[in-house]
Amino acid sequence: MTVETPRASQPDAPARRRATFNTLRVADVRRLTEDSVEVTFAVPEHLQDDFDYAPGQYVALRAEIEGQEVRRSYSICTEPVPGEIRVAIKRDIGGLFSTWANEQLKPGDTLEVMNPSGAFVSKTAITSMNSPESLAEDAVARRADARLVAFAAGSGITPIMAIARSVLQASEKASFDLVYANRSAADVMFAEEIGDLKDRYPSRFAVHHVLSREQRLNPLLTGRIDAEKLRSLLDHVLRTEETDEWFLCGPFELVQLVRDELASRGVPAEKVRFELFTTGRPDRPAGHQGRSVAADPEGKQVEIEFTLDGLTGQVSSPVSARETVLNAALRSRSDVPFACAGGVCGTCRAKVVSGEFEMEENYALEADELQAGYVLTCQTRPTSEKLVVDYDA
Ligand SMILES: Cc1cc2nc3c(=O)[nH]c(=O)nc-3n(C[C@H](O)[C@H](O)[C@H](O)COP(=O)(O)OP(=O)(O)OC[C@H]3O[C@@H](n4cnc5c(N)ncnc54)[C@H](O)[C@@H]3O)c2cc1C
Ligand code: FES
Repeated sequence: MTVETPRASQPDAPARRRATFNTLRVADVRRLTEDSVEVTFAVPEHLQDDFDYAPGQYVALRAEIEGQEVRRSYSICTEPVPGEIRVAIKRDIGGLFSTWANEQLKPGDTLEVMNPSGAFVSKTAITSMNSPESLAEDAVARRADARLVAFAAGSGITPIMAIARSVLQASEKASFDLVYANRSAADVMFAEEIGDLKDRYPSRFAVHHVLSREQRLNPLLTGRIDAEKLRSLLDHVLRTEETDEWFLCGPFELVQLVRDELASRGVPAEKVRFELFTTGRPDRPAGHQGRSVAADPEGKQVEIEFTLDGLTGQVSSPVSARETVLNAALRSRSDVPFACAGGVCGTCRAKVVSGEFEMEENYALEADELQAGYVLTCQTRPTSEKLVVDYDA
């Protein structure tokens, strides 16, 4: 792939800010289910602009666990509330950060929190950041009667909660259908909050709990969501034709299944937003920083030049190492932004100024960002002698 003349980003592309970490205090840790907690961070007044967000965005968290620096991303789970940020963390079996957060994190602790980022936001009903008043104005200006549908599974509910609450609050005409898949009723995160939404917006919010290991009265809502069940849901439960925007957040297979089915029904891709928490490749769990690279003074080198916070750095990388831009850049500066290192979160995004490259995985960048020359530096390797990227663009 070659990029010579980068084009401007589309006007509708959600703003992505340069990622920076700030230390925030944990104000509350609330147990949601046996396996998940909601963590509230207090955002001091002087940082409120930095922590503005659009519902659906996430933050990266950084902590020192068992002597190693660990970074993971977590979606914000509430409508924007000045002065706080809330995330929900579900324990992943064998997972380092999520187990630590579920077992040890407590009020008063401090964590490094990156400013919110991500493109899993409504383009139909919401554009504003941290201001309920302008949310309402924008919703009216855009599509006050927007009809939104979400498919969430497990912890995939987190960004959906923020979007649903904001959209329903912002416009009296907006409606939201949620299909929420879990193993059992005990695994349902935000059960109380979902119940509240049903009570508060009985004619505009509907939830369809699908439980894979528990019998429900309706067989359609029992078992895993497979192609057949999905088709029935789309045909008989959801108003598929009238839906303005779709939100999908859950395991790779479910997201892919719904995307494929919607595409086969002619739903335009721009109406379908999705967020992946993992790559769906167990051999490559996201969230693991790059490897160290053996020097190869005799072998061929490539040059990687990168600009970050207005400063330009250069680093050589042995061709034999096949290392990514992020891996190489981190050797020269430790503040190069990244979180998942797995092509899922988009934190390591930079614009290619010149040179040739290949990008392995991309679960984070949208088509307009790719067109504008952005890459995920954790997935990008130079294929020319020199590659120049700009993290500030
Ligand atoms: C944009 C984004 C938003 C997210 N939002 C949320 C959210 O709101 N809530 C939430 O709970 N999660 C969310 N996640 C997922 C989260 O970032 C973490 O990936 C998750 O919590 C697991 O992290 P961990 O450190 O506990 O697990 P890890 O230690 O990273 O392990 C993950 C899994 O891989 C397995 N594993 C570890 N090492 C290996 C290996 N070498 N080989 C094979 N398997 C291995 C572990 O057993 C575990 O099951 C989000 C992710 C992204 C990218
Ligand atoms: S660090 Fe998450 S996509 Fe690169």
